Amino acid sequence: MNQSLTLALETSCDETSAAVVANGRTVLANIISSQVPTHQKFGGVVPEIASRKHIENVIPVIDQALTTAGTTLSAVDAIGVTYGPGLVGALLVGVATAKALAFSLDKPLIGVNHLEGHIFANFLAHPELEPPFVALVVSGGHTSLVYLKDYNELELLGQTRDDAAGEAFDKIARVMNFPYPGGPYIDQAAKQGNPAAIAFPRAFAGKNGETKFAFSFSGLKSAVLNYLNSAAQRGETVSIPDVAASFQAAVVDVLVMKTLAAAEHAGVDKIVLAGGVAANSSLQAELTLQAPSRGLTVFYPPPVLCTDNAAMIACRAHYQYVAGDFSDLNLNAVPSLTL
Ligand code: KG4
Ligand code: ZN
Repeated sequence: MNQSLTLALETSCDETSAAVVANGRTVLANIISSQVPTHQKFGGVVPEIASRKHIENVIPVIDQALTTAGTTLSAVDAIGVTYGPGLVGALLVGVATAKALAFSLDKPLIGVNHLEGHIFANFLAHPELEPPFVALVVSGGHTSLVYLKDYNELELLGQTRDDAAGEAFDKIARVMNFPYPGGPYIDQAAKQGNPAAIAFPRAFAGKNGETKFAFSFSGLKSAVLNYLNSAAQRGETVSIPDVAASFQAAVVDVLVMKTLAAAEHAGVDKIVLAGGVAANSSLQAELTLQAPSRGLTVFYPPPVLCTDNAAMIACRAHYQYVAGDFSDLNLNAVPSLTL
């Protein structure tokens, strides 16, 4: 087979990214222009500012990706783009740019689900990885268990009923005065703390019933906030590392338990972590510790492929390209797109 080149764009939140990937698996360029410093002073992403920054950055980022990959627009075989879920104004910048490129170059346009992209990041990091497997998608906006039967056959097993895992990390981090996004800071602080110091709740820990593969993190978030507020009211100082470690343990316990159960349910021997929270050191360590005794192997991407990037979108787009799953020029941003 001749080399197939995919150019992809990712603008769903606060990174403007363009990537060139060969044959779905080899990253030739993955340029990520992060807006984190811009949004940090507001303690979170400001949608209007994100859209404006994407408009400023998208063409330079594409130019840089093509130069880094040593290729040109005319050599590209398909244009992939995230069309949801995400911030509508942010998504529209990527979608409009991809449509303009596809139309003017007369190349196939491929709309990609951002969450599927996160899962496919693992194919870039692990050349030997093949479906079937169960994926835990844990990001700032989503917490889902997915059974990937084949490259283009995905089944949602369960998801969060309220907050996403990353959202809980970020909200707790904010009240502990860590910069945005707070997940990595909690991860670091937890290394010095005792995960058994405070007994925070584990929601839906039951092994059966309709919540078997469902998650809930809003009660945990409230429990941690109450703990911090009551200590402040009593004028007591708290151990931030202990709070971070105990909170993180409550999240990781539930994620690990349900992911192992989902793998058993699906009858697979591989587990894949995806999304920003997949970079969490405790989540990676716990799953890797518990999986082998159940005959399971764990895969996760390196940090740069865990958080938002266009290479994962190019990988997903490639497998849609192979299956002839193209979009037309009516492609629109779908902010609440699901798996
Ligand atoms: O996938 P992502 O880059 O963006 C979304 O699609 O949401 O995920 C960002 C999320 C943020 O909530 C961030 O705090 C979290 O991933 N995150 C982490 C870690 N690194 C990033 N959470 C816990 N531990 C980490 N090491
Ligand atoms: Zn993401």
